[in-house]
Amino acid sequence: MALDRIRVAAAVEVAEGSLLAVQAAGKKLLLSRVNGRAHAVIDRCPHMGMSMAKGTVEGGVVTCPWHNSRFDFCTGSNMDWASAFLGVSMPKWTHKAIAMGKAPAPLTVVPVEESDGQVYVRL
Ligand code: FES
Repeated sequence: MALDRIRVAAAVEVAEGSLLAVQAAGKKLLLSRVNGRAHAVIDRCPHMGMSMAKGTVEGGVVTCPWHNSRFDFCTGSNMDWASAFLGVSMPKWTHKAIAMGKAPAPLTVVPVEESDGQVYVRL
């Protein structure tokens, strides 16, 4: 089944180093630009299912604001897992407790296309 192409933003709204929260087809998405290319992920942290919209993105790595799990924004792969509480770094011996039994998992990435100054996702 072909995925629908849905316009989600103007290209100028999707910037390096910032997250843009949008909705498309009933799904919450985060958009950002990495090395000039727009990327999108489902806005649902795989740790506890929370929104990452108030997180940060730097150098193509997004950090969840809740427990600082970090993910490659382009591939979704997990780079660091549950190392903080409400964004405050915690000692390593607490990380297992913060993870609450959840194993590291990736973000879900969404295909993005840009044309004529607009950003589209495929859902
Ligand atoms: S909800 Fe994102 S790291 Fe816990």
